[in-house]
Amino acid sequence: MKFFLDTANPEEIREVASWGILDGVTTNPTLIAKEKKGFKELITEICSLISGPVSVECVSSKWDAMVAEARELASLASNVVIKIPATIDGLKATRILQTEGIRVNMTLIFSPSQALLAAKAGAAFVSPFIGRLDDISHNGMDLVDQIVTIFNQYNFNTEVIVASVRHPGHVVEAALIGADIVTVPYAVMEKLIRHPLTDIGLEKFLQDWAKVKK
Ligand code: E4P
Repeated sequence: MKFFLDTANPEEIREVASWGILDGVTTNPTLIAKEKKGFKELITEICSLISGPVSVECVSSKWDAMVAEARELASLASNVVIKIPATIDGLKATRILQTEGIRVNMTLIFSPSQALLAAKAGAAFVSPFIGRLDDISHNGMDLVDQIVTIFNQYNFNTEVIVASVRHPGHVVEAALIGADIVTVPYAVMEKLIRHPLTDIGLEKFLQDWAKVKK
């Protein structure tokens, strides 16, 4: 399973890249707004920190404006992937961009039918938002399971990015289902490796090691 970091913060990207497990980055307008840098300057910086895909969101709502915006964003760096929302205009834009070799991550996916149409339109990635479904008492992971089953059934090349991840359990469930990618906020990424028994065990070993004659 590939690990993407869900952030627009260069320090967080540098840090997780140094762990040796980072495959890509996803941003969105909310994450970009938290950073105090110019949009294009920030995207260019992020793309220089990692060779894997960096998802950048289109904010236009009409297909022709989306295509124009996507072309401009894609010209910033070769690893830019365009996030397009799951709408009818989004499908039209995705098909055009796909024929031009610009990769699309269809975002704000909340149903299997949206994911199926995204794959049909040629999206390279789909992003089901599982945490936001859990927030309204649905089961986000059921959606991931359905999408993975459908994509396997028809041999779609579209990769499933499990998004809106809230805790380590989401990551483990995504791995058990066989999702291609999880995109994880920095705070959750840290929680994936920390365990209190590891800390306690390490402390005890170090205390005992101090008693050994060297
Ligand atoms: C994914 O691409 C999105 O940026 C992100 O996962 C949204 O997560 P949220 O629901 O925590 O805002």
